[in-house]
Amino acid sequence: MATQSKKQSKKTESKKAEHIAPAKGKLGIMIPGMGAVATTFVAGVEAVRSGLAKPIGSLTQMGTVRLGKRTDGRSPLIKKFVPLADLNQLVFTGWDIFEDNMYEAARKAGVLERELLENIKPFMESVKPLPAVFDQNYVRKLDGPNVKQGRNKMELAEQVRQDIRDFKKSSGADRLVMMWCGSTESFLEPSAVHNSVKAFEKGLLNNDENIAPSMIYAYAALTEGVPFANGAPNLTTDLPVMIELSRANHAPICGKDFKTGQTLMKTVLAPAFKARMLGLSGWYSTNILGNRDGEVLEDPGSFKTKEESKLGVLEHILQPKLYPELYGNIFHKVRINYYPPRGDNKEGWDNIDIFGWLGYPMQIKVDFLCRDSILAAPIVLDLVLFLDLAQRSSQLRDIGIQEWLSFYFKSPMTAPKLYPEHDLFIQLMKLKNTLRHLKGEELITHLGLEYYD
Ligand SMILES: NC(=O)c1ccc[n+]([C@@H]2O[C@H](COP(=O)([O-])OP(=O)(O)OC[C@H]3O[C@@H](n4cnc5c(N)ncnc54)[C@H](O)[C@@H]3O)[C@@H](O)[C@H]2O)c1
Repeated sequence: MATQSKKQSKKTESKKAEHIAPAKGKLGIMIPGMGAVATTFVAGVEAVRSGLAKPIGSLTQMGTVRLGKRTDGRSPLIKKFVPLADLNQLVFTGWDIFEDNMYEAARKAGVLERELLENIKPFMESVKPLPAVFDQNYVRKLDGPNVKQGRNKMELAEQVRQDIRDFKKSSGADRLVMMWCGSTESFLEPSAVHNSVKAFEKGLLNNDENIAPSMIYAYAALTEGVPFANGAPNLTTDLPVMIELSRANHAPICGKDFKTGQTLMKTVLAPAFKARMLGLSGWYSTNILGNRDGEVLEDPGSFKTKEESKLGVLEHILQPKLYPELYGNIFHKVRINYYPPRGDNKEGWDNIDIFGWLGYPMQIKVDFLCRDSILAAPIVLDLVLFLDLAQRSSQLRDIGIQEWLSFYFKSPMTAPKLYPEHDLFIQLMKLKNTLRHLKGEELITHLGLEYYD
């Protein structure tokens, strides 16, 4: 037994630390979409830097990683274990179709209390939106004045590339990360124009309708070597062209759709049912929310994009093909209803019909009175810091998709033909093992036989 467990621990050892460049200088965060999530994130970073609040919900700021055996007592903070940029090194800019600066946008979003915002007002006012790449065909419910003009989509992409270079210069940032926090675009499927950089660039010149604004930002970022994360359920980076650009330009990508309220709960509860071999016959999820995101999702095209992203979760976790008697016949429904009085304070109800021993039915009801952007903001922070780390890591910078960041997404990107891992705790283990691996620490498998040698 002793030899076997030693062999096992050898197998899980990450031999040597990978090279990671230090997080020197400023990190510039560029955000298409300066709405509720973006302003709550930026205001939160400034509030934490000013000592006004704590970065609750952020794994990079509050989380630890266990190293070695349970008896070793080594659990450093993640931010001490891997070289992440410090909050004081972050500088921000963004794009939006509205002209409001971040203070005004945050006031309108109505997420944060006025008192907090007043304390950081000059800083928030200093972040002003650049003119956006926007087309109402992709977000029907919105229209705004702060929009770029160009003869074709290639010209618009060139303008975003120029914005990136200008911001790098004016802010003095050493490195950049772009994070899509814009509205959910209409449902699109991959097509020939997305298959290669060559086809995509031709499509940009020809104003191909399969190229949405979010793709133009992603193309510009990746072409400039800037990592890109997609917080919305849009197709944006789930495309061969983006993977090609990401790998060629050492600009890691990840997405899509922040895993915040209801889906977070789904990816905790569904693995529990499967772990105990409890069956599931139905899962009805409904939401009321009254922010701009809710208004945009009233449009059937944008809702379909969101629906696809929310529905995939159960199928992948429960594996009905492996367990047809338990999960072969599930009725899964997701509804989102725009209800202005609630603002950003969403209410998500779940009715879950499960069955146990001898097929006896049971029900679970979840009523999550959450705050959408309060849940999303720490995810944005972790993603920008981890994407920047990935770009500084010799092992991660050229692989394109960062599957180890699946933890943060409803619909995680994976290598082509690989099904995504949705179980929150497997995702967390993957993330922490990736950090251990980067630092040459032993991976943790939870086998634990060595304690009984
Ligand atoms: N808050 C959450 O819990 C959560 C969870 C998962 C995903 N998301 C997604 O994150 C995104 C942002 O959410 P939010 O609540 O901040 O929405 P929001 O409506 O408050 O903000 C989105 C902003 O994007 C801007 N915008 C739209 N198209 C743009 C473009 N092409 N270029 C630049 N700006 C553009 C809008 O004007 C708006 O200000 C949405 O797509 C939402 O679906 C949010």
